[in-house]
Amino acid sequence: MSRIAYVNGRYLPHREACVHVEDRGYQFADAVYEVCEVFDGKIVDMTRHLDRLGRSLSELSIVWPVSRAALERILREVVARNRVTNGLVYLQVSRGVAKRDFTFPAPGTKSSLVVTSRSIQRDVSMKVTEDGIRVTTTPDIRWQRVDIKTTGLLAQVLAKEGAKRAGAKEAWMFDKEGYVTEGGSSNAWIVTADGTLVTRPAESGILKGITRAAILDFAGREGIKVDERPFTVEEAKGAREAFVTSATGIVSPVVQIDDAVLGNGRPGSIASDLRRRFHEGVELLPVRAY
Ligand code: PDD
Repeated sequence: MSRIAYVNGRYLPHREACVHVEDRGYQFADAVYEVCEVFDGKIVDMTRHLDRLGRSLSELSIVWPVSRAALERILREVVARNRVTNGLVYLQVSRGVAKRDFTFPAPGTKSSLVVTSRSIQRDVSMKVTEDGIRVTTTPDIRWQRVDIKTTGLLAQVLAKEGAKRAGAKEAWMFDKEGYVTEGGSSNAWIVTADGTLVTRPAESGILKGITRAAILDFAGREGIKVDERPFTVEEAKGAREAFVTSATGIVSPVVQIDDAVLGNGRPGSIASDLRRRFHEGVELLPVRAY
């Protein structure tokens, strides 16, 4: 079955889905994005993702390309047209098309909207659960507004490529003091000896992950202790467990950080449990309920 993408008002076969050469997303990374998980034919936590999109847009003074209600319909339509039951849906909004100039284009320039969706194979996600992942560490060289989910991801591209070459799945970035900020495309967590979940506060140096928020909610409901504080690479290497969270990987147990093997080198029981039960409390929006 051929894949379908939405581009500025049209549903197109993937190979015909193009944006203009002077789209500001293409030229300046003047664009923001969201990725939602699709689980069992339902979009996970769409409300929270669109809330965060609204914040990213407003921080950069980019206007909504369509109304929020229309965008919700488009997301569901793209998932449905691609027959994705388990996978993800991606949306990107750029400031639009204009002659290349650093300053904002004329008021009234329409922002661009692209939406795609694809399946993720069950065996890939099962392997993460069974084997866990390895992470490498690297200095965080990003700009200071990492709280905005922009498509300016070159630092993460380099970090994750470095991880891949070292045989790892994710790169944990650390700040000048040696504290972990987050993963290239995920939030970072450790579990202390007494079972407390530790993750960096969302106010400094990280993206406020939606999956992170869902885990905090889950922990609150289950009475699991959480400490929102920075932790160093060294502390992480000696932690009882570690894991990363993101819409694409949900909860992925970490079994090795650089050369340090955590515990017995197998996914920890707390991270595994969080992954297994992750969908219990999240918002699940059926794709075909319209
Ligand atoms: N990335 N931190 C960074 C830098 C990220 O890029 C992401 C998500 C997260 C986790 O956020 P959330 O739980 O809302 O997915 C944290 C997406 C999945 C991506 O770029 O593909």
